[in-house]
Amino acid sequence: MADIIEVKHPLVQHKLTMIRNKAVGTKDFRALVDELAMLLTYEASRDLPLETVEVETPVAVTKQQSLAGKKLAVVPILRAGLGMVDGILQLIPAAKVGHIGMYRDEETLQPVEYFVKLPDDIDQREVLLVDPMLATGGSAIDGISALKKRGATQIKLITLVSAPEGLKAVQEAHPDVPIVTASIDEKLNNDGYIVPGLGDAGDRLFGTH
Ligand code: URA
Repeated sequence: MADIIEVKHPLVQHKLTMIRNKAVGTKDFRALVDELAMLLTYEASRDLPLETVEVETPVAVTKQQSLAGKKLAVVPILRAGLGMVDGILQLIPAAKVGHIGMYRDEETLQPVEYFVKLPDDIDQREVLLVDPMLATGGSAIDGISALKKRGATQIKLITLVSAPEGLKAVQEAHPDVPIVTASIDEKLNNDGYIVPGLGDAGDRLFGTH
């Protein structure tokens, strides 16, 4: 079973507490999600392979460590996942970006896939699938399935806030996928919101209701 990593770093916890506050407006919410995405990517990229390279400093020739050229892709689940892309690209600017669009069927509560556009070589890339809220896990499970169907074999899920129910569901459906999250919250309520959560992440990012 792949790991669930709850990132307890003080900066992560502080920024997450700030965006939980309902008084925080769109501009600040967006900036903080960007910063959180960056900090979570730092954690999610901990095991990227390194290689030894030679470099000439102004003082000496030395052998040092450099990323081993592993290709990455960032794939947001639309729409709220979009809010995390820029922060990740600030750390990994060469990553390609794919998109997965789904909506939740209001009657069945099941996610429906309506748009999938991925880099052609997705099968050779480590994929960071991003969605700020892991609630029931339905969208994440379908997002991972959509990636696997198209050949992706190395996938990590990055979320800001996760419900225990969603984590369990994703782990059961895709035990090979590690999850990096800033918080494991208490539960889901009857409306499908994470408690205490931060409300609707998409609405708060984009200023809609
Ligand atoms: N999606 C959100 O944006 N917020 C929740 O609490 C649950 C799902």
